Amino acid sequence: MVQKKVTWQSPSNIALIKYWGKHDVQIPANPSLSFTLSKSFTETSLTILDEPGNKDFDFELYLDQDLRPDFKPKITTFLKRIEADLDFLKGQKFRIETHNSFPHSSGIASSASGMSALALCLLSLKQELESKKEESFFKKASTWSRLGSGSASRSVYPKLSLWGKHKAITESSDDYAIAFPERVDPIFEDFCDYILLVDKGEKKVSSTVGHQLMNNHPYAQRRFLQAHENLDALLKYLKLGDVESFGEIVESEALTLHAMMMTSMPYFILMKPNTLKILEMIWAFRKETSIPAYFTLDAGANVHLLFPKVYEQQLGDWVNTEVKALLKNGDYICDAVGNGPLKL
Ligand code: DP6
Repeated sequence: MVQKKVTWQSPSNIALIKYWGKHDVQIPANPSLSFTLSKSFTETSLTILDEPGNKDFDFELYLDQDLRPDFKPKITTFLKRIEADLDFLKGQKFRIETHNSFPHSSGIASSASGMSALALCLLSLKQELESKKEESFFKKASTWSRLGSGSASRSVYPKLSLWGKHKAITESSDDYAIAFPERVDPIFEDFCDYILLVDKGEKKVSSTVGHQLMNNHPYAQRRFLQAHENLDALLKYLKLGDVESFGEIVESEALTLHAMMMTSMPYFILMKPNTLKILEMIWAFRKETSIPAYFTLDAGANVHLLFPKVYEQQLGDWVNTEVKALLKNGDYICDAVGNGPLKL
């Protein structure tokens, strides 16, 4: 077999309605909705080498040119989940080379962008080698991404992605994400997400452990129901362009995610003192200026500052003069809603 190489760039995403809790093989306990990001992405190449390998998956993984055997177990688990579709890789040596646009130590999870980039590479290569066109390429890529990391399922579409069955959206599915199928007010199409890097340390609780904590959680069932209710409300506000009501739901989702961690056993507080300070500053800024800037959080201490693009100048100045001092090395990423993955 000749050496074959494929490269994809795939973005990270930020959930507005949070996925927290799963069962069986990566089936979400509730639907989630996310903005696809633009500047935070992973670029991954998959090369099939011109050498025979052993009958298991025989690969090496490089992050920024460094050999990283520590990443292999997670990737192997993923590959085994889709191995029925990977005949073309069996008995063949291959190499995975990956690079994140954001530093590994930024506290930004690379699993959504990383797993979706790898899933896209695998599916592209499968198509090329088997000369078979996959009819719904991105649906399949999303299904595979989900089996690598739940949130990765949402990274393969532009703008807004929905993963998980929800009664108001007939095409929705627990098996894969879909591009948000309804009309959305244009104000949300280029929304900004400034990622304020409060703490760059490794996460104290991995998302795998975090999701497990929802299994015997006293408030889990009510939370899963609330995600459906919040999604219904958000669908309405996205259509109407009601940024204030949108922001209220999004902030409540972020605090609920953290409340779930604080009330699980064992319990965790992932926010840092500066996270809280920044949340209070956002509330005060909103009150003083009437500018609709809101926050969301993922499973860490960083703050995602969300606002319509027309206010970029004001928010940029504010972050630079008031917030920067609270950030690790003064670092933040000026991201925004993006156009989805790119084959290079
Ligand atoms: C808090 O997708 O990282 O970011 O499926 O175990 O890989 P696994 O979990 P992961 O969980 C993401 C959780 C979250 C919320 C979200 O992105 O919806």
